[in-house]
Amino acid sequence: MELGEVQMGRVQGKVAFVTGAGRGQGRSHAVRLAEEGADIIAVDLCHDIDGLAYSLATPDDLKETARLVEEKDRRIVAVQADVRERAQLQEAIERGIAELGKLDIVVAQAGIIGQKSSVPMQAWTDVIDTNLLGVINAVHAALPHLQAGASVIATGSTAAYMQTLPMQQVGTDSGGISYMVAKRMLSSYMHDLARELAPRQIRANVVHPTNVNTDMLQSDVMYRSFRPDLEHPTREDATPAFYVQQAMPVPWVEPVDISNAVLFLASDEARYVTGMQLRVDAGGYLKWYDFHL
Ligand SMILES: NC(=O)c1ccc[n+]([C@@H]2O[C@H](COP(=O)([O-])OP(=O)(O)OC[C@H]3O[C@@H](n4cnc5c(N)ncnc54)[C@H](O)[C@@H]3O)[C@@H](O)[C@H]2O)c1
Repeated sequence: MELGEVQMGRVQGKVAFVTGAGRGQGRSHAVRLAEEGADIIAVDLCHDIDGLAYSLATPDDLKETARLVEEKDRRIVAVQADVRERAQLQEAIERGIAELGKLDIVVAQAGIIGQKSSVPMQAWTDVIDTNLLGVINAVHAALPHLQAGASVIATGSTAAYMQTLPMQQVGTDSGGISYMVAKRMLSSYMHDLARELAPRQIRANVVHPTNVNTDMLQSDVMYRSFRPDLEHPTREDATPAFYVQQAMPVPWVEPVDISNAVLFLASDEARYVTGMQLRVDAGGYLKWYDFHL
């Protein structure tokens, strides 16, 4: 690079809407996109959901995301909003566009995990409403604002590829089953959305992470899910079990590994990449499934 030459980022001048940006992967995506030149419209629920056995982000977490984006010399409009409420997302996007001028990238990725619950149907509705309807709400709130060249990215999970539980276990783990169902259905929704949007030169892709080192994974819920043989498993108990998901010898990947995939799909480098189900899974699929093109 010549002295005085301005280094352009990979998403320079674009505006990205990121759901679940208060912490974890959402924060990482917001910061990574900002690092590469994007301004950010960030939303997060910023409070817990009744009956969920682990905590979600707080208002301070969302403020920290805003601080980290601003540290990259980019602008951010950060709004407390619930992805289950489309009107709240529409309002957040409108506020964002009023300040930042437009919308080019959607990262619909807020999500929760259920758990073996004493109220299984509640776990079912919470997870489907957040992980499936929340993604659809984010996309539909954004669609009227997207132009040719825009990119929509949803976060699935390698859980979308997994077998559901045998019928006799249905009803005992609605949280886990609804997670797989939501991720599978959002993958199918995004596939058909990509077909619908391609003639308008708008792209739609899904990123499927394996275990990611966030508060969702590092939670008692997940420790119990990976070590059902123990009553109160700790991180130390669960870590060796986390390796089972990947072919590469790692217990998890880091949020930035997912952000780098999101960044690629968001950028013009991927201008002809659409309808993809992109696994970032350290070879997990190779370990568990037969070859499919
Ligand atoms: N961590 C993993 O191992 C893993 C693996 C595969 C897929 N995923 C998926 O990645 C995505 C991000 O998860 P994460 O690992 O960063 O977890 P996380 O719990 O750290 O972050 C999720 C964020 O979403 C927010 N959120 C939850 N419900 C919301 C709602 N109704 N409205 C707005 N915001 C809401 C939370 O407050 C939190 O900030 C999720 O869709 C998750 O299913 C995670």
